[in-house]
Amino acid sequence: MATDLRISLTDLCSLRCTYCMPAEGLPWLSQRERLTDAEFVRLASVFVALGVTSVRLTGGEPLVHPGVVSVVERLRALEPAPEISLTTNGVTLERHARKLADAGLSRINVSLDTLDRERFARLTRRDRLPAVLAGLAAAADAGLAPLKVNTVLVRGENLDEAPALLGWALRHGYDLRFIEHMPLDADHTWTRADMVTAEEMLDLVGATYALRPRAERLSAPAEDFDVVDGPDRASWAVPVGRVGVIASVTRPFCRDCDRLRLTADGQLRTCLFAQHETDLRAPLRAGATDTELAELIRAAVAGKQAGHGIGAQGFVQPTRTMSAIGG
Ligand code: 5AD
Ligand code: SF4
Repeated sequence: MATDLRISLTDLCSLRCTYCMPAEGLPWLSQRERLTDAEFVRLASVFVALGVTSVRLTGGEPLVHPGVVSVVERLRALEPAPEISLTTNGVTLERHARKLADAGLSRINVSLDTLDRERFARLTRRDRLPAVLAGLAAAADAGLAPLKVNTVLVRGENLDEAPALLGWALRHGYDLRFIEHMPLDADHTWTRADMVTAEEMLDLVGATYALRPRAERLSAPAEDFDVVDGPDRASWAVPVGRVGVIASVTRPFCRDCDRLRLTADGQLRTCLFAQHETDLRAPLRAGATDTELAELIRAAVAGKQAGHGIGAQGFVQPTRTMSAIGG
């Protein structure tokens, strides 16, 4: 059974990243379609009983969900208590960080693609870079370490900034991970030919920094490297830095992936790219027992597809976008 569950608390988001959403947003779920906090916690309890030990809260943007802190608290109270982490765009992290840490959150990932304010505003269609930087500082202050920063590199947008982003992360002691852009964008503009591959990212960063591959993947799906030297070494916050790449497209890790994803409307997905979802909301609302829900989950996991098939003939991008699945 899978041990890693990701819950998309909401499909709403405070940014409109061009590689994810159209400017006008998406047709959002209705209140009735969304699970209530009690429903999220009830379903999570069934997953935990089945062996899930780690729950990551995602979105959309999980911090726009009003109940996020209380959900963390209630998930921590399950037995055995799962480890809780969260992936955020950081926009309102400054006022959430302390409360999340107090509620029992262990780790946080912040998505940030550029350190240039104008570029940030263009990429996310919102002028919120200062808020994100303040959020990162607040999270570090609240002890939510090691802080991870996720960066999607897009040609013609922020690719040239990769070494500077790493320099910034090293100065602050953040773990940076570069992510290959996946075909999950609402606008369907992704092309294999245009995407930046992990190899290209590593070549670019490796021209400035000395990287040494770590023997094992600490946190699949990332391939991790120690950063052992660089021209700005004197300014690093750590003796040896850390950088990773997530090569979902060019070096798929499907065989080692045991992630499960629960959408904000209670659908279970066993792959980001699955065409099929298992509806847990309808049985839940019809009064299914824990045993019945567990049976549905087990059957879904047993039927997990073998690989995502990006690049294969007949690959069809799922209807749900990244923001509605939760990364
Ligand atoms: N491919 C790869 N990563 C994506 N993200 C959003 N859309 C995509 C995509 N199509 C990233 C965000 C954030 C994380 C949740 O997923 O930038 O870091
Ligand atoms: Fe950007 Fe993430 Fe929001 Fe998509 S869900 S618009 S990637 S912050």
